[in-house]
Amino acid sequence: MARIIAGVSSSHVPAIGAAIDNHRTGEPYWQRVFEGFERSKEWMRNAKPDVCFVVYNDHASAFSVEMIPTFALGTAAEFPIADEGWGPRPVPVVKGHPRLASHIAQSVILDEFDLTLCNKMEVDHGLTVPLNLMFGSPKEWPCPIIPLAVNVVQFPPPTSNRCFNLGKALKKAIESYPEDLRVVVFGTGGMSHQISGQRAGLINSKFDHAFLDNLTKNPKKLTRLSHLELMREAGAEGVEMVMWLIMRGALDEKVDEVYRFYTVPASNTAVGHIILENRIKGAKKSAAKPAAKSKKPASKMKRAAALQKIHRVRS
Ligand code: DHB
Ligand code: FE
Repeated sequence: MARIIAGVSSSHVPAIGAAIDNHRTGEPYWQRVFEGFERSKEWMRNAKPDVCFVVYNDHASAFSVEMIPTFALGTAAEFPIADEGWGPRPVPVVKGHPRLASHIAQSVILDEFDLTLCNKMEVDHGLTVPLNLMFGSPKEWPCPIIPLAVNVVQFPPPTSNRCFNLGKALKKAIESYPEDLRVVVFGTGGMSHQISGQRAGLINSKFDHAFLDNLTKNPKKLTRLSHLELMREAGAEGVEMVMWLIMRGALDEKVDEVYRFYTVPASNTAVGHIILENRIKGAKKSAAKPAAKSKKPASKMKRAAALQKIHRVRS
């Protein structure tokens, strides 16, 4: 059976993509952002997922403002890179997994979440930037990607609670797929940012850190966040964080936070990132990385592994 091994969340600031595409990642401004994702790329190399399910939002690229689906699932075999005004980003085309996507559609829609099915869809920075942050810049993305575009552009977006419950339905869907696939679920967007209006440039690190803490330990609390609270605390575009709750809903109740990174700002945004692993029942090893061989007694090994695993990088 397929299983979800981990959830990953990260901001998707378009200027991060521009820094990569224009070979500027070594500049002091960008260096601190990209350094924060070095461990993440290492984690991903070890995790080697068979499929990634990426929850992101379309920024009027695939859908314009004429039609805005609340939840749009990519069921196509390929997703071309959108032209966001300066030509498509020079990144590999995104290959889908139509069989798993169709299975998810079947399961999630019968669970009463009315997804829009997209057999043709372009993907923008909301999806490609987190892929770069987690995989670097390979010639081909190393695994198939299933996109889920969520409306956070025009009000009303789905509620925090709705998103968390959709994550649960997604978990049920993936775990009932008969093939042995290891799946990583991404939640993207956020953290605090506001791009226009009187409060443009707003960043609220205190709120962001509390959100990250709760995401790991007490996600139920986050499901009570209204759009108004999210926007008041994290800015108008901070509402993108509802997408992180789809990722969290798809994970087990108890997870291991294996990495966190937070830096302010990149462009207008507080860049936040977290990796949460599901605990594999009955397994001694981390889902992603084989444990190192050691003669230390089990209790000491457990503690050493825990210390090794948690790297909190904050600035
Ligand atoms: C920025 C951040 C976003 O998440 C986005 O979609 C567009 C712009 C920014 O910080 O510039
Ligand atoms: Fe965005």
